[in-house]
Amino acid sequence: MADRIDLMSTLKKIGVLTSGGDAPGMNAAIRAVVRSSIFYKYECFAIHKGYQGLIDGELTPMTPRSVNNIVNKGGTFLKSARCLEFRTQEGRKKAYRTVQKFELDALVVIGGDGSFTGAMIFQKEWNVPVIGIPGTIDNDISGTQFTLGYDTALNTVIDAIDKIRDTASSHNRLFFVEVMGRDAGHIALNAGVGAGAEEILIPEEDMGLERLLDSLKKSEKSGKSSSIVVVAEGDKTGDNVFEIASYVEKNMPYYDVRVSVLGHMQRGGSPSCFDRVLASRMGVFAVESLRNGDSNVMVGIKNDKMVLSPLEKAIKGTSKINKELIRVSDILSI
Ligand code: F6P
Repeated sequence: MADRIDLMSTLKKIGVLTSGGDAPGMNAAIRAVVRSSIFYKYECFAIHKGYQGLIDGELTPMTPRSVNNIVNKGGTFLKSARCLEFRTQEGRKKAYRTVQKFELDALVVIGGDGSFTGAMIFQKEWNVPVIGIPGTIDNDISGTQFTLGYDTALNTVIDAIDKIRDTASSHNRLFFVEVMGRDAGHIALNAGVGAGAEEILIPEEDMGLERLLDSLKKSEKSGKSSSIVVVAEGDKTGDNVFEIASYVEKNMPYYDVRVSVLGHMQRGGSPSCFDRVLASRMGVFAVESLRNGDSNVMVGIKNDKMVLSPLEKAIKGTSKINKELIRVSDILSI
């Protein structure tokens, strides 16, 4: 449940951290949290290395100048981690001692669903007001249409696939390109349509190897000499992209098949303008929401409006893929 608390009178110090997998736009969000906190006359503390820094007391007081020249930088200058110790009661107790020591009145957590689960438990156990900013390239958090880093990652993927297309077509090759998305196919689906992929394999839809073969055979008959199949990391068609590729190669020996796993390059790079603006809006809105007494919520964007939703919903809900894109892809890949 989202909480409304009497923060207005007590709020003086806000801590901000980044946690989980990094995402382009996290720095812009930190900058927005720091500057808007100070704009509203609060003190702001940067917590280093995610929840580990909260446990170890690695905090630095921030000024507006501490976040100079980072709006355009990928990664997170506060560093990020998936912290096992914070999953234990003992770890969270140590973290609470830091909150007491620095007299923090609220935390802003920039991260994905794992980070929000930690935030929610911490809030329940120790009654520390928290607010989440969704930062993950996977776009797999409910309560927001877009997460930080997703747009940049899409542009990175499109750029990479465009380059693969050049070599695929020069050599008449069939490429399987694996993109990130452990549990969600948003990157694969959108980048697949944007890059003109032949087929897109995502965890949300089980295509099956036979249908994939049929489709590739049809394309080959229709005169295509090279093709790109985009495979989400979490797709369940085979054990992994290499298994899918070798199955296709065995059944279509006339195709020269190659696999390209894009990997962590998708998480890096300068954030797109969209992500910088989104991060700036989310950071300001997070501080303004704390100011209004909201806690245990995540900020999000829906139809270009900033919205709040309970952290619980953000964690448990699923962000549905856009099925319209599957139809569009099927029509355009004839
Ligand atoms: O959650 C974002 C994500 O990039 C996933 O798409 C990917 O499966 C995972 O992180 C990789 O995590 P790690 O950086 O810990 O290998």
